[in-house]
Amino acid sequence: MNVLSNNADQLAIFGGPRACPDPWPTWPVWDDSERRGLNEVLESGRWWFGERVRQFESEFAAFQGARCAVSCTNGTTAIEMGLKALGVGEGDEVIVPAYTFIATASAVVTVGAIPVFADIDPATLCIDPSDVERKITPRTKAIIPVHVAGCIADMDRINDIAKARGLHVLEDAAHAWGSQLDGQGAGVLSECGTFSFQVSKNITAGEGGALVTDNEELADLCRSYSHCGRRKGAAWYDHDYLGSNLRLTEFQAAILLAQLSRLPEQIKRRQHNASLLDAALGNLQGVQLLAPQPRMTRRSYHMYIFRVDESVLGVSRDRFIEALNAEGVPASRGWYRPLYANAVFQNTDRLPAHPIIAPLTGKGVRYSDVCCPVCEQVCRDAVWIPQNVLLADEPAIKTLARAIQKVAAGCRLLRNR
Ligand SMILES: Cc1ncc(COP(=O)(O)O)c(C=O)c1O
Repeated sequence: MNVLSNNADQLAIFGGPRACPDPWPTWPVWDDSERRGLNEVLESGRWWFGERVRQFESEFAAFQGARCAVSCTNGTTAIEMGLKALGVGEGDEVIVPAYTFIATASAVVTVGAIPVFADIDPATLCIDPSDVERKITPRTKAIIPVHVAGCIADMDRINDIAKARGLHVLEDAAHAWGSQLDGQGAGVLSECGTFSFQVSKNITAGEGGALVTDNEELADLCRSYSHCGRRKGAAWYDHDYLGSNLRLTEFQAAILLAQLSRLPEQIKRRQHNASLLDAALGNLQGVQLLAPQPRMTRRSYHMYIFRVDESVLGVSRDRFIEALNAEGVPASRGWYRPLYANAVFQNTDRLPAHPIIAPLTGKGVRYSDVCCPVCEQVCRDAVWIPQNVLLADEPAIKTLARAIQKVAAGCRLLRNR
C-alpha cells in the first residue's frame, strides 16, 4: 500500500465520511448467566466466603494450567501478595519493565522494596532480558516480567537469568488470561503470576484479581495473607501472619464464573480478528506490527498494538490517532510515557509520602537519570486498539483495517493542514 495514495482527501478529520460509522461491541459483555449467578448468590444469603469463590479459583487455575489459584481484590494486591509470599521486602530491588501500568512498580514499593526499571524488547514490548541482566545488583531479589497485551515475555531467558542468580520471578499477567507458550498458560511460566479482573479486562467483575502458581506452599501463604493472616487449618481468630483482607465476594465470583465460560470463544474471535488486521496492515508503509514469540500457542489480545514510523508517515503518532478517532476508530496512545517519567518516581526526594528510600544512603532513590530508550520510543509511536473492538464481526474488522489504511494514505494531507 502506497502511503501517498491520491484518494486521501476524504479523511473524516477534514469533514470526509467516517470509515467506521457503526458502533463497536460494547464492554463488558454479560447475559443471563451473570444475572442468574448474581441472583443465586443474593437469594442464598451466602454473600461471602462461600463455594463460588473456591469454584472460580479452581476453574481459573485449570484454565491457566496451574495447580492453584488464589483470588483477591485486584491485580495490584495480587502482585503485593505474591511479592510478600516470595519474601520480597525492605531494601530489596525488583526489576520491572518501564512499559507497564503503575501497579507493577507501586506494588514493589508497597512491600518496602525498590523498583528498578529495565527497557523493553521492541518486537514484543515486554521486558528485555539483556537489560534485566544489566540492571542486576547484589540487592536484586526478583524480576517482574509483564506480558503486555497478552504477548508473552521471553520467559526462557528471564528464568535462566533468575536461576543463575537465585532471583524470584513473578509474572504480571494482568493482560494474559488464556495466553500460552507451547500450550502452557501465563502465570505458571515461572514461580507464579498475577491477573486483573478490573472492568476493562477481558474477564471482569468490575474489580478482582488472582495469583496462580504450581507451588502449594506459596499459594497457602498468599491465601493466609489475603485472609487476615489466618493460617490454613488454624482457628478463626488465630492470626499467624501479618496479612490483609483481600477477599473477593461471592457476587464477584458468580460474575467471574460466567465470564470465564465465555472467554475461550472470545479469545478465538480476538485472535482471528487480529490475524485479519495483521494481514491487512503487514505491508503498510510506516506501520510496524509486533513480532510475538512464534511459540505462543494462544494469545489473549487485551489490546491490538502497532507502531507508526513518523519519519515514513511524516506526521506524529498523536496526529495519526486524531485522524483515526475521527474515522470512528477508538485508538489511543496507551502508556504514553515510561513509568519512571511519572511524578511519583521523578519526585521521590520531594514527596511527603511514600518516598522510595535507598538503603545505603537513606535518601530518596533518584529516578531522574533513568533512561530506557526503546521504551521512550515506543511511548512515542505505539497505537492501541482496545480488546472489545476485536470482538466485532469480520466485515467490521475489514472496515477497521481500511480505516487505518485510509489514514496512513492521507498522512500527506494531515501534515499540510
Ligand atoms: C500490567 C498491569 N498490571 C497490573 C494491573 C493492576 O490491576 P488492577 O487494576 O486490577 O489493580 C494492571 C491494570 O490495568 C495492568 O495493566
